[in-house]
Amino acid sequence: MEKKNVQKKMQEIASEIEKHDYQYYVLDQPIVTDAEYDVLFRNLQKLETEHPEWALPNSPTQRVGGKALDQFQKSKHGVPMLSLANALTEEEFTAFDERVHRFIDADAKTKLEYFAELKFDGLSINLVYEKGTLVRAATRGDGEIGEDVTQNIKTIRSIPLNLKTKNPPERIEIRGEIILSIKDFEKLNREQVKKEEKPFANPRNAAAGSLRQLDSKITASRPLTGFFYGLGEVVAGDSEFTLPKTMAAFEELIEEWGLPIGKHKKICKGADEVTSFYQSIGEMREDLPYEIDGVVVKLNAFSQQQAAGFVARSPRGMIAFKFPPKKSMTLVEDIQVQVGRTGALTPVAIVTPVSVGGVWVKRATLHNQDEIDRKDIRIGDHVVIQRAGDVIPEVVEVIKEKRRGDERRFKIPDHCPVCGSKAIRPEGEAVTRCSGKNCIAKLKERVRHFAQKDALNIEGLGDKIVEQLVDAGLVKHLSDLFSLEFDDVLALEGFADKSSHKLLNAIEAARTPDLYRLIFGLGIRHIGETTAKLLAQKFKSLNKLRNANTEELLEVDGVGEEMARSLVEHFGHEEVQAELNELLQKITPIEPKASASPQVFAGKTFVLTGTLPSLDRSDATKIIEDRGGKVSSSVSKKTDYVLAGEEAGSKLEKARSLGVKVIDESEFRSMASN
Ligand code: IVH
Repeated sequence: MEKKNVQKKMQEIASEIEKHDYQYYVLDQPIVTDAEYDVLFRNLQKLETEHPEWALPNSPTQRVGGKALDQFQKSKHGVPMLSLANALTEEEFTAFDERVHRFIDADAKTKLEYFAELKFDGLSINLVYEKGTLVRAATRGDGEIGEDVTQNIKTIRSIPLNLKTKNPPERIEIRGEIILSIKDFEKLNREQVKKEEKPFANPRNAAAGSLRQLDSKITASRPLTGFFYGLGEVVAGDSEFTLPKTMAAFEELIEEWGLPIGKHKKICKGADEVTSFYQSIGEMREDLPYEIDGVVVKLNAFSQQQAAGFVARSPRGMIAFKFPPKKSMTLVEDIQVQVGRTGALTPVAIVTPVSVGGVWVKRATLHNQDEIDRKDIRIGDHVVIQRAGDVIPEVVEVIKEKRRGDERRFKIPDHCPVCGSKAIRPEGEAVTRCSGKNCIAKLKERVRHFAQKDALNIEGLGDKIVEQLVDAGLVKHLSDLFSLEFDDVLALEGFADKSSHKLLNAIEAARTPDLYRLIFGLGIRHIGETTAKLLAQKFKSLNKLRNANTEELLEVDGVGEEMARSLVEHFGHEEVQAELNELLQKITPIEPKASASPQVFAGKTFVLTGTLPSLDRSDATKIIEDRGGKVSSSVSKKTDYVLAGEEAGSKLEKARSLGVKVIDESEFRSMASN
């Protein structure tokens, strides 16, 4: 074949691959299978090996990484990469708004138009496209000169190697943030630990560490992605390119060009609208699949940005409206051991109270002895604690420089601190457990678990009251709750006539729980709410369930070996059987009704991810369960469908890599009504 034909073929395949990269990595909507994609990729690689001299300069085959470098070259930005001023409170933001008014000579009564979007917590990057082709990518560096990480950036498949436009400017710098999703960060850290390498402290460090690799093959193996929001140098040259007039329009344009942009953004009229956007993002912050540390607010019109000018190294017309940090430093005053429902002894750091991301924290979990040893946490240490989502705060690291020498090491005791029974750590397990049969701490936790909202839902039976009931010897078994008398309750501290009646009424109301709530409420290891529902559906009565053998349990779709073993073990204890006999004399669980809906999802497992246009999680779960399906939290080969909405994260990627079918809400609805 002559050169022209070969190059034409190469170009065709390359365009095809680019299209699929965009569909998959930017839109999350693949239109070919992985196998089909691989064939294209390999065909192109083959042509390039046969004719390396004719290979396209920006071939998608470069996405797998190339030869390792000795060092990064320096790269000067066309226009410096500046930084942003911060507002840490609403007052500070209002002050910014007033300042901007003064500088652009606007009437304080006319509201300014701002463009507000997320402040991604990653690593800033400057992409240079010439005539639509990615020619260079550099880190921020000192703002003037950064490091050339082009080879590495080319491995990030959501970043187009060629812009999707027939009318690109001669040269344009597009700026954004390289990030790693929280799920991918956690996965990467698990792999680091397995390889006995140091885990990264947070997604941002992991993204930076992954991007700043001299060996781009390593970068290629990390699922980095990015969001783009900014503009550097623009040279129209001979092209007919004209710059849009606003930030919002600029982002739309680069989105059309194929760059990933943030999904949450808003054109706001005046400071009030910005503040409510900031608040609404603050509320959903924990649900985002990646980390953000605030909202960036920019004058929407470029002309106004220009008029506002600069102060020091920051544009006056933009600000980072930050969220309170979720990490704080404090002192470990003591380490105590908590006894859980299943007897697990969990070490907990008692710290000098500190605000973490706006919430006061007094205790932080240390997980287990291995974690204490790995992080070398001692009583008297200064530590960094963090709160991720709704989970219990944890100690991330010790600030060793602050040690004075009188810090004390800690060992989990070999006896239960509450009942004094021997504490046992089975071979190969990280957790030490109290072996006591009548441990009061375990009992309290079991009663709490039993009474909680998702189990028997005994309103008003909170932690304090459980504590009192157990300490007073009124509750020694779960069933004792149902024998409480008015005078028993009245005698407790803090109870009067009315409150005693109220509690007893709540207990009364719990005498006819749904069977699954009772099963879940028993607090059997590894048996969560979902599994409890499956067991209730299958066995229809507690008596059948408690006599089931391993084979029968394993017949339930969704019950694995570990769960079956745990159930058999639990029901194998004589005391458990005796307690259940008592309990069943006092309460009558309601058997699950045969579902009225046709069982179109029978035996099918779904995983939900992202935000669906109109269904929330619990609606979708109900539709699935009513039709005989089940919902699982993680994607595996056994998953039948991943129901994905906006902002779907790593579950979607996992689904794709395993070839699991991905459906959207409308497909889901039509399947459900089938
Ligand atoms: S605009 C003059 N928009 O935050 C700099 N920056 O604290 C204009 N960042 O260096 C930046 N998300 O690395 C802008 N949506 C966003 C951003 C964002 C994250 C980073 C960026 C910048 C830093 C400033």
